[in-house]
Amino acid sequence: MSVTAIVGMQWGDEGKGKVVDFLVKDADVVLRYQGGSNAGHTVVLNGKKYIFHLLPSGMLYADKVCIIGDGVVVDLPLLVEEYSALKKEVKDVGDLKISELAHLVMPYHKLIDELEEGRRGSQKIGTTKRGIGPAYADKAERTGIRIGDILRPALFEEKLRRVLDRKNEIIAKIYGGTPLNFKEIRDLYLGYTDFLKDKVCNTVYLLRSLIDEGKSILLEGAQGTLLDITYGTYPYVTSSHPISGGACIGAGISPKDIDEVIGVLKAYTTRVGMGPFPTEMEDPLGSLIREKGGEFGATTGRPRRCGWLDGVMMRYSVKINGIDRIALTKLDVLSGLEKVKVCVAYKVGGKLTEEFTPFLDDVSPVYEELDGWSGDISKAKSFDELPSEAKRYIEFIEEISGCKVFFIGVGPGREEVILR
Ligand code: IMP
Repeated sequence: MSVTAIVGMQWGDEGKGKVVDFLVKDADVVLRYQGGSNAGHTVVLNGKKYIFHLLPSGMLYADKVCIIGDGVVVDLPLLVEEYSALKKEVKDVGDLKISELAHLVMPYHKLIDELEEGRRGSQKIGTTKRGIGPAYADKAERTGIRIGDILRPALFEEKLRRVLDRKNEIIAKIYGGTPLNFKEIRDLYLGYTDFLKDKVCNTVYLLRSLIDEGKSILLEGAQGTLLDITYGTYPYVTSSHPISGGACIGAGISPKDIDEVIGVLKAYTTRVGMGPFPTEMEDPLGSLIREKGGEFGATTGRPRRCGWLDGVMMRYSVKINGIDRIALTKLDVLSGLEKVKVCVAYKVGGKLTEEFTPFLDDVSPVYEELDGWSGDISKAKSFDELPSEAKRYIEFIEEISGCKVFFIGVGPGREEVILR
């Protein structure tokens, strides 16, 4: 029995899906606490690949309770599609529960996300265009519509009418776009009541009772620490809190409830979208890692930018999240390189610092170079079976992060993992 938060330590795409999938076997409950369909968590079962955008990663197991928490923004048509597609493939899926407090990503959010990105031109953020920012903005502006509202049709209709009038004015007058049809949206959403009625509940009480019963709970973060709206590389961030503190807000629990925080760290760094990236490799090596690591967005298919591991950023992540242990992913992708580099400090205005700053524009990385290793490491079953240089790389990560690396991903498959 324990409550474990799983967070991404970089700019997302660290391989959280695989780590959650591994940990889920011993868990009773998996809860997604923030983000929305901008996430794409890949899990592989019996050689088949599943990408979950909204469903918690435990959905492949019939005996798990899977909760979409209060802090998530839900694109309901997409959730229904994802759930139905999974049900077709896997007969007995997890028991899905959805917070009545979770906000909806509405069609106008997606449209405005796209139109606003277009308007930003060269200043664009590079969002996933899934309506995430506009949905969280409405939540803060108190014009959002929640999952629980759909089960109160008169209230839903009244809220939708009011909000849509205003959104259509913005869509037409500011962006020159085509206004959306009230009746179509109302009918579509009210048509989901059957799907929702046995799944929507007050997940605060549900989770509380599961914790009190001594169940094992995984709190599954989406995106990563450096995409956090406050602590990330603003404005090139998402609109929620992927950090461990966000797990409390997005699940409705106390910080005292969390027993352990596991950080997921990729052996190198990637980012999608715009924004500064000190260790980026804009050379053939970056392309090689992209190809070898399959670094193309699970949600948008966009090529991810690739770079060396940033140790300064990693330490910042350890502090902000209170990381206890690290799950290191994709170590195999670095095999075959003569040298591997890790950024250990930043030079900012001629001064050396080991402190991270989200104001990354005038930062240059200072590297420590380590020997690389070669050969296929995907069959290694223990730490000792790894080449000595790969072991040194892991120990170096432990030295500079102050955390134990307990999980080492050496290939994409479920069993391609070394545990320590
Ligand atoms: P948004 O979350 O769609 O608003 O996008 C904001 C920024 O976060 C963009 O740079 C996206 O590429 C990035 N982002 C959002 N979700 C993910 C993710 O799951 N993995 C990696 N980057 C993401």
